[in-house]
Amino acid sequence: MNILVTGGAGFIGSHFVLRHKERFPDDTIIVFDAMTYAADISFLDSVMDRIRFVKGDITDTTLVSGLIKQYDVGVIVNFAAETHVDRSIKNAIPFLHSNVLGVQSLIEVCKEHLNILFLHVSTDEVYGELKDGDPPCMVDTILRPSSPYSATKAAGDLLLLAAVRTFGIHARITRCTNNYGPHQAEEKFLPTVITHALKNEKVPIYGEGKNKRDWLYVTDHTDAIETVLEKGEDGNIYLIAADNEKQNIDVAKTVLDLLGKSRDCIEFVIDRPGHDWRYSIDASNTRALGWQPQVPFEEGLKKTVEWYKDKGLQETGWTASN
Ligand SMILES: NC(=O)c1ccc[n+]([C@@H]2O[C@H](COP(=O)([O-])OP(=O)(O)OC[C@H]3O[C@@H](n4cnc5c(N)ncnc54)[C@H](O)[C@@H]3O)[C@@H](O)[C@H]2O)c1
Repeated sequence: MNILVTGGAGFIGSHFVLRHKERFPDDTIIVFDAMTYAADISFLDSVMDRIRFVKGDITDTTLVSGLIKQYDVGVIVNFAAETHVDRSIKNAIPFLHSNVLGVQSLIEVCKEHLNILFLHVSTDEVYGELKDGDPPCMVDTILRPSSPYSATKAAGDLLLLAAVRTFGIHARITRCTNNYGPHQAEEKFLPTVITHALKNEKVPIYGEGKNKRDWLYVTDHTDAIETVLEKGEDGNIYLIAADNEKQNIDVAKTVLDLLGKSRDCIEFVIDRPGHDWRYSIDASNTRALGWQPQVPFEEGLKKTVEWYKDKGLQETGWTASN
């Protein structure tokens, strides 16, 4: 299989590339990434001599289409997106560019090459906020996105579903809960907690820290995507969840305990505007394909913390004594 992985130098995309190359060494992988602040090509160091890398923007339909022809690509997996909610609140335009126009551009590519299977990676945030006790969202639960980020992701999903119906392109959507693991940009919640604590700085937590997220280790997400590629059906949306809901404050406390840091460094800061209280989705349609999460939260969190500790050592020259 020849596979184009857009956004493959970012957090989840890089794990997908590493794991796919390990499982299917003979597949040709073309990583296509605009290399925004969230990307880091060194994530792919261990496979760089066995993949192709092209720097580019998914809105460049001609460039992407040319790569499809050049490498006889059969599958596109789209991780490329602007992903940080706080950035979207400050300026939504880059989110419209990558998450809406970018998806439409990939749809145009699929219209030209009707044999392509397009898997689009989306998020549970498209359903918007749930309160405590609300039942998990299902595939057809109404979309009520709260932030410019989630609204643009919902728009991309709807454009793709419309294209499946109108143009007969082969596409599937996955919507996943919160991911954690190595390679995530430092401005996101867990890396913020870890890196601030490592530097002995105050750890900022929005509001009272009681918002809940369902935490899934990143390779469990990429494994679910592989399962949907292998066994899913075109035109379907697959929900991927960990059933591991935790309040932000409890996640932060566990990280501080793992690092041997005092919980006194937690500092509550003014809440994010429109901050969703809770998300929850029912992943039974992905589990029915044979997928289930493999990495227990404590184990995944330890791996994540260790990765950021090692990264800090490389970048700052810290030693065990300081
Ligand atoms: N991180 C999560 O918890 C989570 C949960 C569910 C779904 N998702 C979805 O998974 C996907 C990947 O998320 P992530 O956390 O790895 O994001 P990320 O921000 O770490 O990586 C995004 C990657 O896309 C690239 N990119 C951005 N705009 C581009 C463009 N126009 N053209 C080409 N490349 C572009 C960036 O350079 C970066 O490498 C996103 O679609 C996101 O909505 C993420």
